[in-house]
Amino acid sequence: MSRARAQYVCSACGGTTVKWQGRCPHCAEWNTLVAESAPARGAGRGLLGAEPGGQGVVLMNEVPAEQVRRFHTGSDEFDRVLGGGLVAGSVVLIGGDPGIGKSTLLLQAMGVLHADHPVLYVSGEESAAQIAMRARRIGGESLALPLLTETSLEHIVGAIERDRPQVVVIDSIQTLYMEDLSAAPGSVSQVRECAARLTRLAKQRDISLVMIGHVTKEGTLAGPRVLEHIVDAVVYFEGDAHSSHRIVRAFKNRFGAVNEMGVFAMTDRGLRGVSNPSALFLSRHERPVPGACVMVTQEGSRPLLVEIQALVDTAHVPNPRRLTVGLDGARLAMLLAVLGRHAGVSCADQDVFVNAVGGVRISEPAADLAVCCAVVSSLRDRPVPQGVVAFGEVGLAGEIRPAPRGQERLREAAKLGFSRAIVPRANAPRQSIEGLVVVPVSDISEALKALWSG
Ligand code: TYD
Ligand code: MG
Repeated sequence: MSRARAQYVCSACGGTTVKWQGRCPHCAEWNTLVAESAPARGAGRGLLGAEPGGQGVVLMNEVPAEQVRRFHTGSDEFDRVLGGGLVAGSVVLIGGDPGIGKSTLLLQAMGVLHADHPVLYVSGEESAAQIAMRARRIGGESLALPLLTETSLEHIVGAIERDRPQVVVIDSIQTLYMEDLSAAPGSVSQVRECAARLTRLAKQRDISLVMIGHVTKEGTLAGPRVLEHIVDAVVYFEGDAHSSHRIVRAFKNRFGAVNEMGVFAMTDRGLRGVSNPSALFLSRHERPVPGACVMVTQEGSRPLLVEIQALVDTAHVPNPRRLTVGLDGARLAMLLAVLGRHAGVSCADQDVFVNAVGGVRISEPAADLAVCCAVVSSLRDRPVPQGVVAFGEVGLAGEIRPAPRGQERLREAAKLGFSRAIVPRANAPRQSIEGLVVVPVSDISEALKALWSG
């Protein structure tokens, strides 16, 4: 009789070891290894379930071109994030904090899809009564959805094989369990095996599968890397649950652009798309305040104006604090060093806090110049003049590097009534933009001079 093999699985990256260790050898996280029995033989077969005697080696030019069919979810914002609609036969993972609106978004989308395609909404989290209550709130077709409240993977697979839906939503993947595995629901091996089994089924039967996943308090999905590898698209909810705006962003998309962003407002009747969000992330002060600088970000296909706020204050501890919300912390440390070395602005004995207004997350380096301007403005207690926007990457030598799609950014700033733009020299437009004075700069000290002149 064979004994179940024991192994240790990292709850952060899904890596396995045969011996317990304090630190995961794969991702170097501490105290993340938990004991689980190894998956049954055959459970880790290829995702597409390649059978022996299958096609084997083929010539790529003999593979027939496949048309990508897309289903429209009834929301332009959600469709855009997915690359133009939900692709038939694709597997999408949707992550986000609890209560941010994942179930609401999917219930609304399924209500629309249900009109033309057989669908199935599987919930392992809430009772049928709770979901029906939400569907009543949303209104429309959501109330007529076929719903299965089940956590056993075998039963769910059985229902899918029987009813043959074209679109399936799993809310959420962490609640499912496979009877063959001894690990508890929500553990890395259950999540991974359940997701792999469902993905295999979706690919075999050409089903669009949307899996909802919870985010752990560190801000990642439980077992994130394993799931991110097997799905076609990964979409995260951002923003804070306290404001009414929700941002949905694609981090991986085999059928569309990454970083594409959809903006929604949570209303008392579900999520409503915000088609023109460019002015959403500005605080609109009555008069200019020190420590605020507006930038134009272009992540995805739309330019967006975002206010960057900084607070620089005397530190009372030997190690001054550097904190960022919505921006990269390591990048802030680098920018402070550049300011010190190349612009003569020292923050060595100052705490520095930087925030992107409205809970939006900006990862592009084009935010650098606005961060520097906001920091210096706060340090000198001198507001950035009204109507000014700034963007551009700041290099370690203090040079200002161009940002992609500068023209579009500038046009958007002019459209929203901004009158002066401090931009990298290479982004200076060839033709003037009505109502906007463009000030091209080449390095950080020139940029700071331009900020308070004119
Ligand atoms: P939900 O979709 O349940 O979040 P998740 O599945 O990500 O955990 O959303 C829950 C929140 O949204 C909850 O706080 C109530 C709020 N909400 C509204 O404000 N209006 C609505 O129409 C609905 C359905 C929910
Ligand atoms: Mg939910």
